[in-house]
Amino acid sequence: MVNFEPSVTLNNGQKMPMLGIGTWQSKPNEVRDAVDYAIDVGYRSIDTAYVYGNEAEIGETLTKKINEGKIKREDIFITTKLWSTYHHPDRVADGIKKSLERLQTNYIDLYLIHNPAHFKFIDESNNFPKDANDKVMYEKVDIVQTWKELEKAVDQGLLKAIGLSNFNKRQIQQILDNSRIKPANLQVECHAYFMQKPLFEFCKQNNITFTAYGPLGSPQRPSVRPEDPILLKEPKLAEIAQRHNKTPAQILNRFLIERGRVTIPKSVHRERIKENFEILDFKFSDDDLKELDALDKNLRYFLFEFIQDSPDYPFADPY
Ligand SMILES: NC(=O)c1ccc[n+]([C@@H]2O[C@H](COP(=O)([O-])OP(=O)(O)OC[C@H]3O[C@@H](n4cnc5c(N)ncnc54)[C@H](OP(=O)(O)O)[C@@H]3O)[C@@H](O)[C@H]2O)c1
Repeated sequence: MVNFEPSVTLNNGQKMPMLGIGTWQSKPNEVRDAVDYAIDVGYRSIDTAYVYGNEAEIGETLTKKINEGKIKREDIFITTKLWSTYHHPDRVADGIKKSLERLQTNYIDLYLIHNPAHFKFIDESNNFPKDANDKVMYEKVDIVQTWKELEKAVDQGLLKAIGLSNFNKRQIQQILDNSRIKPANLQVECHAYFMQKPLFEFCKQNNITFTAYGPLGSPQRPSVRPEDPILLKEPKLAEIAQRHNKTPAQILNRFLIERGRVTIPKSVHRERIKENFEILDFKFSDDDLKELDALDKNLRYFLFEFIQDSPDYPFADPY
């Protein structure tokens, strides 16, 4: 099987494949086969998070593939994320330790702060602490101190690269201004309807690679608004797909790579996992690219309503 070739180079010199398999909402029992099959197809990058609740099953699957001799640990690029209940500097090391244990590995390739809001820690099973009025319980944390803990974990060899997710420009700048190790990657919503050009350019200027989540428009996200157009049903995509004998999903993933974004489509279905991987055997014409660029409507599907009342809510800024 071929591995996926196009990659970005992180600020630590490490390469990250421009295609990975996403695993949000991939349930235990589903994610095992998805990751196992994705590795057989040629995926070498896996995106997960503490809060997805599937790190342990991904860890088991990776260990199995390593024991079978199909892959070596160093062939696989693992991204996972620090959840908001672990932002306090006293708890960061514990958050990292739990992910390492669950993933059955002694290092993580890329570790991101999942989102900029800080939650109170109640206990390990409570990822969304709420008070009696059903309000999220926030905590006061200086995110720069959280970042310093990540830097320590890099020094200890537990994390190879560190980065951010769902941070806006101002919040990224704060980390840039107060860090010894600069963020290597930003993971945010990005797709043909929402290419995030200003944020992408800002990251590029600062040597921060850019990962697109929701690359297919995340059709199964719980926060679907009925008025939102469905990206996978965009008529223009169907036209372009037909021209190349490809599917709309393949066009979306390939377009992101063409525009310098890492794409991490999620699927738990074998035929789709394979489909999302088979995107390098055609070339866009200049007209295709013009038409795809024109689809951008600055449409954010993910509003993160659950942290809208946090002082660190990221999406009130223009970008
Ligand atoms: N950092 C963050 O805050 C954040 C937020 C959201 C997502 N993410 C990451 O980004 C990954 C991708 O985002 P996402 O899962 O929200 O959305 P997505 O990848 O845009 O879309 C996934 C959905 O599309 C379906 N699908 C997959 N391949 C398809 C194909 N070829 N044709 C038609 N439908 C297809 C999947 O269904 P089936 O599984 O049923 O096939 C699933 O419902 C996540 O899994 C996660 O790893 C990160």
